[in-house]
Amino acid sequence: MRTLVATIIILVAQMAQSFPGFRGCRSQQDCDPGSCCVVAMERFSTPRCQKLSQQGEYCRPRNSALNTSLSYPNGILDVTNLYTVLCPCDVGLICEQAMCQPNTFLQSNHLA
Ligand SMILES: *[C@@H]1O[C@H](CO)[C@@H](O)[C@H](O)[C@H]1NC(C)=O
Repeated sequence: MRTLVATIIILVAQMAQSFPGFRGCRSQQDCDPGSCCVVAMERFSTPRCQKLSQQGEYCRPRNSALNTSLSYPNGILDVTNLYTVLCPCDVGLICEQAMCQPNTFLQSNHLA
């Protein structure tokens, strides 16, 4: 019985690791094109690949990539080009009023 429980725990742990939404990353190179490496604000959260924000999705103004060292109970992880909470907007979009918008939005509304 104990062996069975241990086996189930190992299986669940492996499934969690291979779940596509939870792929860890240490740099942009670990992520597919069209995604970026992001870490949440919570303490000890693991950086993971996330899709670039699309039109109408939330974004963070002045969200620039950082090179940083994250501290964990079991050590330090050096990460390059890491974003916080959200990826920047996809190509051709800009972050305006905390939402990804077509770049032409700026031209038609602010430069008239
Ligand atoms: C972070 O490191 C990469 C690669 O070493 C470099 O290209 C990039 O300019 C650095 N970014 C910052 C914000 O220092």
